[in-house]
Amino acid sequence: AAEPAAGPPQMGFNNWNSTHCRDEFNEAMIRGIADKFVDLGLRDAGYRYVNIDDCWANWQRDKDGNLQANPERFPGGIKALADYIHARGLKFGLYSSAGLSTCEPNEKNRGFPGGLGHEKQDAALFASFGVDYLKYDNCHNENVDAKQRYQAMGDALRATARPIFYSVCEWGENKPWLWAGDRKVGASSWRTTGDITDKYSSMVDIFKKNVVLDGYASPGHWNDPDMLEVGNGGMTDVEYRSHFSLWAIMAAPLLIGTDLRKIKPDALEILLNKEVIAVDQDPLGVQGKRIREKGGIHVIVKPLKDGSRAIALFNETDVEHDVAIGAEEMGLKTSPSYLVRDLWQHSQVQGDGSIKARLPAHATAMYRISAL
Ligand code: GLA
Repeated sequence: AAEPAAGPPQMGFNNWNSTHCRDEFNEAMIRGIADKFVDLGLRDAGYRYVNIDDCWANWQRDKDGNLQANPERFPGGIKALADYIHARGLKFGLYSSAGLSTCEPNEKNRGFPGGLGHEKQDAALFASFGVDYLKYDNCHNENVDAKQRYQAMGDALRATARPIFYSVCEWGENKPWLWAGDRKVGASSWRTTGDITDKYSSMVDIFKKNVVLDGYASPGHWNDPDMLEVGNGGMTDVEYRSHFSLWAIMAAPLLIGTDLRKIKPDALEILLNKEVIAVDQDPLGVQGKRIREKGGIHVIVKPLKDGSRAIALFNETDVEHDVAIGAEEMGLKTSPSYLVRDLWQHSQVQGDGSIKARLPAHATAMYRISAL
């Protein structure tokens, strides 16, 4: 249907980071996740989309050429799953690839059937399932021009009667920030990098590639540095807080990538930090800008709708650092009366807006500074 809404970055869940294509990715899991959205307060915190990734489909299209669900993983079918999710006040997302097949190889070293050349039929089917979100991957693309492939699906989605959020997963190969958000393609977000893994080095690497693209983000047009790993166990809580803080200050999509049925309280607390979420979702819709980067200390500033500013101070290094920054460097007027709120400590101090912080290795401190 119509133009994508110029909304905030999408929030939700996707199973990929926690399951890849293992058997545990199935109908029972996804229903359980939808239940957890409600029970754990994630829906109330703004998480909306319950998305499923590669390997939901069967090896072949049916006799009419329609994609079909893998009958072992999703015996109830995709429509029933979407209904279950909608009944909980949530939205449902599906995955396909802008190629002849999806990314995960099968026994013939091919993925599941892809959307290239089937865009209209697939989009109509997705709409009939009640799909609200499509993640459209880039595998087996036969070197057909990327913009052309992604536009074909964008056109097909808009030709359905259903508003479907369009997430381009092209890994930044053809600079999608230059074209995926235009009216012809109509995507609301585009991946800027290859896949994240559950390691501090991967998270930092992706952060560095995405943070320099701030000029290309605007409401309804978001750089996507890939899904969250918070809770998956490969990073410390300090590192996961950095991951979440950096994604929020970059106005990145917040797609939870851990199995919420097994999440530990510390990880859940990170994902439910409403003050950090508010920075990500702020209606001004600006991706934070890195204003300082020296010796592994990064300072990112994001202007917010109410005139305040969010600040993230990230210590990438392996040793503790003292960091100081003055109000002026953050673009604030000189004034004796600012409120500096610490978004992880949930405490505040009044002052001239300058910040001094002692940052442990790999840690991020995050603040919201407003004039009194
Ligand atoms: C690509 C994408 C991932 C995931 C897998 C599925 O690697 O970038 O996010 O969707 O494919 O096979």
